This record gives sequence, structure tokens and C-alpha cells, in this order.
Amino acid sequence: MTQPSSSQQPGELKWWQRGTIYQIYPRSFQDDSGDGVGDLRGITRRLPYVASLGVEAVWLSPIFVSPMRDFGYDVADYCDIDPLFGTLSDFDALVEEAHRLGLKVMLDYVPNHTSSDHAWFREALTGRGSAKRDWYVWRDPAPDGGPPNNWKSHFGGPAWTLDEASGQYYLHQFLPSQPDLNWSNPDVQAAMLEVLRFWMRRGVDGFRVDVLNLLAEDERFLDEPINPEWRPGMIEYAQTLHIYTNDQPQTLRYVRRMREVLDEFGDRMMVGEIYLPTERLLRYSGTPEEPLAHLPFNFHLIQMPWDAREIRAFVDGYDAACREAHSWPNWVLGNHDQHRFKTRVGADQYRVAQTLLLTLRGTPTVYYGDEIGMENVPVPFEQMVDPAGLQQPDVPSASRDPERTPMQWDASPNAGFAPEEVTPWLPVAENFREVNVAAQEADPASDLHYFRALTRLRREHPALVGGEYRSLDTGHADVFAFERTLEGARLAVLLNFGGEARAVKVGPGETLLSSLGDRPEAGADLRSNEARIVRLA
Ligand code: NOJ
Repeated sequence: MTQPSSSQQPGELKWWQRGTIYQIYPRSFQDDSGDGVGDLRGITRRLPYVASLGVEAVWLSPIFVSPMRDFGYDVADYCDIDPLFGTLSDFDALVEEAHRLGLKVMLDYVPNHTSSDHAWFREALTGRGSAKRDWYVWRDPAPDGGPPNNWKSHFGGPAWTLDEASGQYYLHQFLPSQPDLNWSNPDVQAAMLEVLRFWMRRGVDGFRVDVLNLLAEDERFLDEPINPEWRPGMIEYAQTLHIYTNDQPQTLRYVRRMREVLDEFGDRMMVGEIYLPTERLLRYSGTPEEPLAHLPFNFHLIQMPWDAREIRAFVDGYDAACREAHSWPNWVLGNHDQHRFKTRVGADQYRVAQTLLLTLRGTPTVYYGDEIGMENVPVPFEQMVDPAGLQQPDVPSASRDPERTPMQWDASPNAGFAPEEVTPWLPVAENFREVNVAAQEADPASDLHYFRALTRLRREHPALVGGEYRSLDTGHADVFAFERTLEGARLAVLLNFGGEARAVKVGPGETLLSSLGDRPEAGADLRSNEARIVRLA
């Protein structure tokens, strides 16, 4: 079967296909109120910086009313702003300023669970006869009085907590304070879809959807099988195989309902947080007749070894699978749940990784601070605040605090994130005096300027955005090279994953950008750890 052509002029593409998404973790971007936690006014003040990066959209992690037990992913009111972050009018001002600057605004939609402080759950707790009881997932105890089955929480421990008053257990795939909503109940669907409308009426352009693949559970509530590959040191959640709680067939029906609501408003989008292998992942984008999520997040670059051969094989397979499935590709190297990619791939490979992210076919998502090379910040157990880390002290990598530390704006105390006299909610990186926006603005050779050079190339060379992708044989196991082509324009991206210089046959052509800061001849040997973009004649 011939595959559909994947090359398109940027003008034929939607904004979420053309542009780059920039994720802001609101607690950590800019504190305007002086309480050590970032807020909406702080973000609005920094939007000109975000626009200067050449990105298309900002995605804000949750800003809704919340007791913050999971730092906002435990929502107590979906249609209001938490006072820690500001007010609805602060939000309106943020949207207005973003749109003035040409930026789209995306919010984080958390449909799988509410906070236990949500009025719906409080009502459900009033008893088995409560009108909201069935909005959550309740089961009687097992015959021994324990939890109804062996389902586990992602943060360790059982996914069930006993409500002593009624004698029943409720389901929570995360913290006990994050009860799962029952999406099989049409009233839950209607209420949650109304949340999307509420924010779109306020001008929101799109949504990142939290754990989209976890919305439904198998209604037999059987035990999940034991994972034979689990070893000590792995998180407890990995002890079982999640065949009854993850990626259930009904889920796609719920995604379809969301899509229909988005389509009521036109030119809006959703990107689903889904950790699944390619084939199962792409089902979440649906078909041309019945489209679902505009983008199902592709996290594979985070999960695979940093190895040129493995990455090439994955990209080849994923790009072809996307074409086959009529799904637009997307790429991610970091987010608020994953360790900083500069720490993971190492400083030598940092620009190689950044170049890969911004030149593959598909929408890149960038995590705040990655554009200046922020790294993991070690946070000792005594200072840890992330519940995923606190609940799993035996798994040192479980805490997400290291990748959530304050944005490094300048060399002043608290890195310009918060006033000098306050203590930020997480420690500022020790290297903030060297690694910060102000210092990098002043240095033409900085990571920040390199990032802008990449987004500029995307604007200047439509082939990098809408062009076809084809990987190239270089004869070197540590070089990944590929071409992007569009109507006669041909660009080659050459990435040296190793520490040795490599001769790579390309050209004739002209070097547009090198990660090492100069413009070598297009055909000159690729130096160690070099990324080079060449326009072929
Ligand atoms: C995924 C989010 O990205 C993560 O930060 C959160 O803890 C869980 N979902 C629960 O909402």
C-alpha cells in the first residue's frame, strides 16, 4: 500500500501542527505576589520573553482551585483560579496579552480524578444514596474486608481507600485525595465537557489532557496480573500489569465526546497525556472520519536510551505509522514529571537533543527552562515536597521536585523568580548565577540564542515544518542523519551522538547552523557531539 504524502506547506497546517508548544509549570515560572510560588501575573509579565522564543503556544499546568496535594493535579473547582495563582480577571488579562503577542493559550484539563475537596466528592461521601455517589467509583470490600482487588496507585500503595462511614472503598489511581471520576456516568461526562466549554468561551485555544488513557476501568474489577519483570528498586505500581485500568476500549468513546465539544468552537485542539507504545498511542488520534485527540503525546524520546541507532529506528517507525494513521507527529524531551533532559543526555549532547526535538517532522513541546539548559536540582528527602517521592522513599528517582525548580531569570537572589526575602517553594539551582536568561541574552553563543536560531530556521525553512522526513545512511552507528524535503527544498540534519569526529557524505550545500557556533563547510567532517543543519543544493 502506498503511504499518503506527508509534505505540506506551513500555510496548509493548523497552528498546533506548525508551531512549538511551551510548557509553563505555573508554580515555578515567576512569582509576582511575593509568596515564593509563581502566579498568573508573573507569567503575564514574562510572556514577551516566551514570545521572543519563537514558540506558538503556552500550555499552563493546572491553575484551578486546589488543596495542592498534587500541586494542582487535584482540582477542587474546575471553573475558578486558585487564589495562590490569582483570579479569573488575572487569567483574562493573561489570555489577552498572550493573544496580543500572537501566542495561543492551552490549559491542563484533569478529567480522570478530582480533589477529595471537590463539592462533588463531598456530596458523594454523604452516603450510598447521595445524588453524586455514582460520580465516583465505589466497591464493597473483598471478603476479608480489604480492598476490592489488587489495583495499585501510581504513587504506591493500593488504588482503593475505605470510606468508613459507608463501609465502601473508592478508587483513586493517584493519591487517596484524588478520587477517580466515573466516566461511564453520563452526568459526569456532561459536567466535565461543560468545563471545556467554560474555558473556550474565555478564549482558551487548547488543552493538554491529563492521563487520557486512564479514564475507564474494566467493570469486572478483576485483579491485574503480576508483572514478572518487576525488580526491587522499581516503583510499586510496576508490580502489576495494568490490563484492566489502562487503555480500555470505552476510553476512546469519551475522547470522541471531548473532540466533539472542541469542534463546536473551531480551531481548538487537545493533546493527550498517554504513555503507550506507538500502535496503541495512535488510536487516540482516531480516523479522518472520526477524529479524536489532535495530538497524542509521544514520550518515546524520553523513555529510550540516548542512542543514535535506536532513535533512528524509532523515528522511522513512528513517522511511517503516523502517516498510515493520518496522525500528526509530535515530540517531547521533558515535562514536569520527567527529569531534565540535559541531565539525562549529558551536557555534551544537550544541543544535539534540542536540535533533534526542533527539526523532526511534527510538533515539538518544550518544557520551561530547557531552552537555557536548566538541569535537575537535587532536593534532599527532608526538603522534598512531591507526594510521588514522599510516598516512595525507596525509589530515589520517584520525586519530581528536581525538574520543577524555579525558572532562572537572572543572577540576583532567588534568580529573579521571587523577591530576595522570600523562600521559594523549591530550591533554586546552585548554578543560577551562570545559567540564567539575562546572562544568556547577553551572550550570542548561549543556549538561549541557539534555541532561538532553531525556531527561526523553522520559520525561514518551511521544509523543517511541513516537509517529508527520510533518514539517511551514514555508515556510522553514532550518527543519526535525516532529510526534510518540501517541493524541491532539501535540508539535512546531521547529529553526532558520539565523541569522535565522523565523515558524513552530504551536499553540496550550505551549512545553516551548527551547535558548535560556527558555519563549517556542509561536507566537512561532523565534529564530536555536533549537530549541523545543511541546506542541500
Ligand atoms: C499526570 C500529571 O502529569 C502528573 O503530574 C500528576 O501527578 C498525575 N497525572 C495525576 O494527575
